[in-house]
Amino acid sequence: MTVSPTASSASALGVGAQVLNWADQLAGHSDHPAGLTVGYLTRAHQTTAAEIAGWMIEAGMQVDIDAVGNVVGRYVSPDPAARSLLTGSHFDTVKNGGKYDGRLGILLPIAIVSRLHEHQIKLPFHLDVIAFAEEEGVRYRTSFLASNALLGSFDMNWLKAADEDGVTMRDAMRAAGLPATEASIRDLQRDATQTLGYLEIHIEQGPVLLERGLPLGIVTSIAGGVRMMAVVDGVAGHAGTTPMAMRRDALAAAAEMALAVESRCAQAPSLVGTVGILSVPQGASNVIPGRCRFSLDIRAADDATRDEAVDDVIRVCNAIARRRGVTLALEPTMRVPCAPCAPPLMAQLAASLERTGVTPFQLPSGAGHDAMMMARLTPAAMLFVRCGNGGISHNPLETVAAEDVDLAGLVFLDFLRNFRP
Ligand code: HGY
Ligand code: MN
Ligand code: MN
Repeated sequence: MTVSPTASSASALGVGAQVLNWADQLAGHSDHPAGLTVGYLTRAHQTTAAEIAGWMIEAGMQVDIDAVGNVVGRYVSPDPAARSLLTGSHFDTVKNGGKYDGRLGILLPIAIVSRLHEHQIKLPFHLDVIAFAEEEGVRYRTSFLASNALLGSFDMNWLKAADEDGVTMRDAMRAAGLPATEASIRDLQRDATQTLGYLEIHIEQGPVLLERGLPLGIVTSIAGGVRMMAVVDGVAGHAGTTPMAMRRDALAAAAEMALAVESRCAQAPSLVGTVGILSVPQGASNVIPGRCRFSLDIRAADDATRDEAVDDVIRVCNAIARRRGVTLALEPTMRVPCAPCAPPLMAQLAASLERTGVTPFQLPSGAGHDAMMMARLTPAAMLFVRCGNGGISHNPLETVAAEDVDLAGLVFLDFLRNFRP
């Protein structure tokens, strides 16, 4: 099969339309009737995994659903001594998320493998397409558990974590037909000597490529994040009889803390800070909130900038708590260092873009990705695909154009045919 580097041959591959169609089909599996929400190992997660496995088999791959629920498809090389090039992304979602976050990086490689298989084109290495079972960390607040398992850094305490309904991860694994044993999870650790590299294709989830009129981009580094859960304890009281000056209002304190996060994280270009969850347990309109929980997510393009902001935020929030006579408890839930991408892979990606007629453009990733974990195992790189609708993501309005997915498919195919470890 010859692949000429023009957009027409891109659409001739027809992968863009197929990938968007598959994404629509997967969006039919959700934990909730309205919107796309797929939590780790829920029913919708299992039916999504089954669909992905089916498409991998049709594409000529050997398929296995591993002990943490990753769907791993291998396009086997005829070379008995072959090592593996890895690609993939996650198929769990945030609540009411978009159809392409993660999924694009699973579906596009499957579509390309199906074209190779159709033309009996084999590769000098195994190509493992990994559909990571959990990256978002929504159900158990354990981001990247699936890629951590492949690194051998799965924290076995996560098995005891309980979701909002009190279902532990171990029970969720059992209910999904997984072994749910520490040994089976430890066995997932990949041998770095048998791994040639990792390339993740992902939507940009931002406006940069859209504003520059570019369909694709090469990621330079992936922002590292710190996440925490905060609990503010004040005094619940009668909303009608308690004078304002005598209150220890946990929610008002949390609100002031959230504004402090926003103003501190506006002080450096790549720094961002978000309070995404805020709740008053057993709240009522006529009761002064005695307790308030909220989440913190702080990231930056470099660890030092981020850590300075985290230290300042903690100091300011404690000062607010003291002044208001409430207590503040902070529980770290995630800390992932920034992950630079591998220059040799980036260079090969740039050459593939050139050959495909796309100007190579480099940009950082503000979003976290499985690639930041896989970079601890093997050289990693990412190819970003332009988002429409202003670059919006983690939102049902998330969108990507079939033509851009076609081009990404051509670049991926060229990368595979020219890959040098
Ligand atoms: O939060 C992130 O950046 C990713 O979507 N998990
Ligand atoms: Mn996401
Ligand atoms: Mn993602």
